[in-house]
Amino acid sequence: MSAPEALNEQTVKDYIKQTPVFKQVFKGQEDWTVQPIAEGNVNLIIRVSSKSNPTEESVIVKQALPYAWRYPDFKMPVDRSRIEVELLRIEGRYCPDQVPKIYHYDEERHILIMEDLNRHLVMREGLMKQIRYPHVAKHLGVFMARTLFYTSDLYLSSGEKKALVPQFINPVLCKVQEDLVFTEPYMDHPNNRWSKLLEPQVRQIHNDDELRSEIFLLKERYMTHAQALIHNDLHTGSIMLNEQETKVVDPEFAFFGPIAHDVGSYLGNLALSYAAQEYHARDEQTRKDYRDWLANLVKETWQIFETEFLTLWENEGNGDWPSPLFRKKYIRELLQETLGFGAAEMLRRLIGMAHVHDFWTIEDAEMRAISESIGINIAVSWLKNRHQATTIQDAVDLMTAAKSSYPF
Ligand SMILES: Nc1ncnc2c1ncn2[C@@H]1O[C@H](COP(=O)(O)OP(=O)(O)O)[C@@H](O)[C@H]1O
Ligand SMILES: [Mg+2]
Repeated sequence: MSAPEALNEQTVKDYIKQTPVFKQVFKGQEDWTVQPIAEGNVNLIIRVSSKSNPTEESVIVKQALPYAWRYPDFKMPVDRSRIEVELLRIEGRYCPDQVPKIYHYDEERHILIMEDLNRHLVMREGLMKQIRYPHVAKHLGVFMARTLFYTSDLYLSSGEKKALVPQFINPVLCKVQEDLVFTEPYMDHPNNRWSKLLEPQVRQIHNDDELRSEIFLLKERYMTHAQALIHNDLHTGSIMLNEQETKVVDPEFAFFGPIAHDVGSYLGNLALSYAAQEYHARDEQTRKDYRDWLANLVKETWQIFETEFLTLWENEGNGDWPSPLFRKKYIRELLQETLGFGAAEMLRRLIGMAHVHDFWTIEDAEMRAISESIGINIAVSWLKNRHQATTIQDAVDLMTAAKSSYPF
């Protein structure tokens, strides 16, 4: 089979004209600005907007090619596009306000045309500017609870769940996470990068078999625990928002995995932002206030998630788990695993391959080392103390107590 052709700035126009989007969004008028979006790593992304009404009449065209767009040598199955669309539909069923609208999907060419979130900012960037989002705890707490509960064995019948799992077998993208999150950061591997100044702290991690054993417990859990249909890349770069609205994008990694991997990835990225405020919030009072807001966001998000999840279980659960004590144990295990998966996400962003803007925008090497060291210490403390955590306040206390180890 020949490889599907990649769209370009010209062909994307011809393509749109053949789809219902031309009439629906652009009222049959072709006066377009076409703008490739460079932020993506994995897929080809192009914004097409009308010149006369660029805010309202605008779409994002996302095409999956059989390789990663930024790294063409890295082969990736185009089936990820089907998975992304199916997950957006499922999420949209349970949380319509938290996902972009799908305008068109072409399963032959793996092209998704969706709502342009041009009034929204990527959350990671918003946090770097100390923007406060009054509704994000509620939006994300409820989003995670609903999407995860409704795809778990607590809601679905055993047969329904088993029929759904094979539709989301995502081996290549899962292997990316197995390698980049749970394996390579804990050894000498050519993919890894870290701040030179932190060499002693990184070596300590590489030599710590207690720490590695905890990571491998999580890795094994990640690979074997088909608990619910998870987003599997739920970091602050996959969330676009403003003060009123929150949208979760990019679910192409989705598969049936541990619930705590989603919750932990998200909370871990809030903790990364907490650490990076060392640099981004320049004056002490601003830093303290914003860190308080972030710490509270971690707490409130978990509390809303837990309350919503338990309410759904109580009201809509399938009745196959009639034990109040089991519920308590289930939630406690989720919390402890959330700290573990959160730590794994943080460490891979600090000493693995996929670094994040929070830190790589810090040009001063000393300041970057201090900020990153705080992040590493939050992660290590979450990882090592998670089995004793009983409430989210424990996680917040561990986070706020962490200091930089640098200068050593
Ligand atoms: N629906 C959208 N509206 C506006 N911008 C978007 C939308 N989807 C993606 N983007 C932009 O494209 C970037 C990459 O998107 P993402 O879905 O993460 O792509 P990839 O999977 O290729 O990395 C996002 O960080 C955001 O800036
Ligand atoms: Mg992606």
